Amino acid sequence: MLFPKLLLLLVVYLTQVICEESPIANDANANFDTNVYEKSSIINGKPDDVIGGGDGSDESKKRNEDDAISSNVYTIPTVTLKSGHKMPLLGLGSDKLEGGTVKLVKEALEMGYRLIDTAKNYEATWTESSEVAIAKGIAASGVPRSEIFLTTKIMPDFFGIKEMRKAVKECLTDLRTDYLDLLLLHHPSCEEDDTDCSATGTLLEGWKNMAAMVNEGMVRDIGVSNVFSQQLKNLSMEGEKPISVLQNWFDPFHQDRRTRAVAAKNGIAYTGYSTLGVVWTDEGVKENPVFIDSTIKQIADRRNCAPSDVVLKWAVTRGVAVIPGSTNSTHLRMNYNSLKVKLTEEDLILMDGLNNKLTHDYGSSGIGGGEL
Ligand SMILES: NC(=O)c1ccc[n+]([C@@H]2O[C@H](COP(=O)([O-])OP(=O)(O)OC[C@H]3O[C@@H](n4cnc5c(N)ncnc54)[C@H](OP(=O)(O)O)[C@@H]3O)[C@@H](O)[C@H]2O)c1
Repeated sequence: MLFPKLLLLLVVYLTQVICEESPIANDANANFDTNVYEKSSIINGKPDDVIGGGDGSDESKKRNEDDAISSNVYTIPTVTLKSGHKMPLLGLGSDKLEGGTVKLVKEALEMGYRLIDTAKNYEATWTESSEVAIAKGIAASGVPRSEIFLTTKIMPDFFGIKEMRKAVKECLTDLRTDYLDLLLLHHPSCEEDDTDCSATGTLLEGWKNMAAMVNEGMVRDIGVSNVFSQQLKNLSMEGEKPISVLQNWFDPFHQDRRTRAVAAKNGIAYTGYSTLGVVWTDEGVKENPVFIDSTIKQIADRRNCAPSDVVLKWAVTRGVAVIPGSTNSTHLRMNYNSLKVKLTEEDLILMDGLNNKLTHDYGSSGIGGGEL
């Protein structure tokens, strides 16, 4: 059984090498700061630095050298948030990693991932929360906490100040840390079909209460998720602290442009979830359009890459931080390496043109944010 695995790894490696060497028609736009970003295309914030380079200690330098040899690691660009701290533009989504969470988090960190996205209500197993499993993965990796950006989210059950403080303390305990890099309000209100959810405050109350989490030193940056453009506009004028990050559904067919424009205007960094098209299949579309769309496939063929590479690189180039999840080590590595793929301006424009190419009636399911 070892041979097919080795063959698969070899194919992925060769694909990435070929991708890197693909001709780029518009080189003038490339080379932002890490040779992988197109400067002119960033709309929500300027990727500004690299992360994953270690803390400068001998131990860290040694690990990075080892990584470079064993996993072809490279540094990940970041965006500076309102607190002045930096957020990597590529991370690992941890929903649905299930029983593999500990192992996959460890593997991802060893590959070079430096952001992990979780939520208080994500579960790894029946008896273990995703946050607890992530802490185990981090410990097993040996990567210092200071090099890792941790995002978690709380549901409307915790929008009241007492409930929020208690929930955040639990998150800190579960994640074995004394601060969260980013705390998000997961949904503006309880979803209609979520009978377990019982709001202890409105979105506005929740938002205003978040400032206390920062003031009390438990959280560095705060933000919201699944909000529409108007809600974001309103919220950005409220509260003691600014909105640092918005996390919404974003994929080639749902580019959430109106809400992204509000975010950009207010200096709010934007993270996309389900960027690889999972929302469509979750909502009953038979085949994931990201993997079968002819435009994406043609670009991928031209660049000798996978459709997932094209989508992730395009998203990040357009200023969207991405947090793909995967239960498959090969996919984890592909996604990490996707930022090396070179896309031309023409490729990017073709990808932009896919917005709203598919439509679906989501009714009141409450997913995403922004326009449909
Ligand atoms: N704020 C919110 O309300 C919200 C909502 C949803 C998600 N999120 C966050 O966003 C993260 C990502 O979203 P998501 O889980 O919906 O979708 P996703 O990570 O974009 O996609 C995950 C799916 O894509 C597959 N996949 C990953 N990489 C692949 C590759 N290179 N090639 C082919 N298939 C690949 C995975 O299958 P394999 O396991 O087989 O690789 C899995 O089925 C979540 O983990 C969570 O942290 C937030």
